[in-house]
Amino acid sequence: MKTPRIDFVESPHDVDWPVLKAALKRDRFDNGRSAKELRASFHNSRHVCFAMLEGRVIGSGRLLSDGVCNAYLVDVWVSSRYRRRGIASRIIALLLNAVPGQHIYLQTNDPRLYSKLGFRPQPEGMSIVAGPWLGRSAG
Ligand SMILES: CC(C)(COP(=O)(O)OP(=O)(O)OC[C@H]1O[C@@H](n2cnc3c(N)ncnc32)[C@H](O)[C@@H]1OP(=O)(O)O)[C@@H](O)C(=O)NCCC(=O)NCCS
Repeated sequence: MKTPRIDFVESPHDVDWPVLKAALKRDRFDNGRSAKELRASFHNSRHVCFAMLEGRVIGSGRLLSDGVCNAYLVDVWVSSRYRRRGIASRIIALLLNAVPGQHIYLQTNDPRLYSKLGFRPQPEGMSIVAGPWLGRSAG
């Protein structure tokens, strides 16, 4: 049987957001955004990349960028069924290709993937969430 092809798509237009949200939830990589908020996050990003298998998203990544010198890499995820096949590496390579010359920052507690791709540790950063996460009230 022929192995289905994985396509790497640099546009958010063919994504089924509720299906993606459910896949993230199954992988315990759901940070609380609704399907609508997930869509807005990707649509409002400067660059996006999805790994698609038979019309379904099995990997993602997006870049916030000022278009000049600074970018931030977020939402890098590959479905647990398809890991260790180079999918995240390909997504990141495509995103990096979109911002030549820019300094790309990210936050992670597992540097193994990024170290392999040439990312190097940075001086310790600082961050804050402005008010409650996603603007939700507690309860
Ligand atoms: C991290 C993640 C995106 C990696 O996706 P992936 O498609 O499996 O990554 P790749 O196949 O491109 O990995 C490339 C290299 O990174 C390293 N790497 C990736 N995942 C690794 C792991 N779990 N353990 C050790 N090394 C790992 C390896 O060196 C690997 O090369 P190898 O398979 O030849 O040894 C995926 O495991 C994931 O979605 N995890 C949950 C979400 C997450 O943590 N996202 C990152 C947020 S910052």
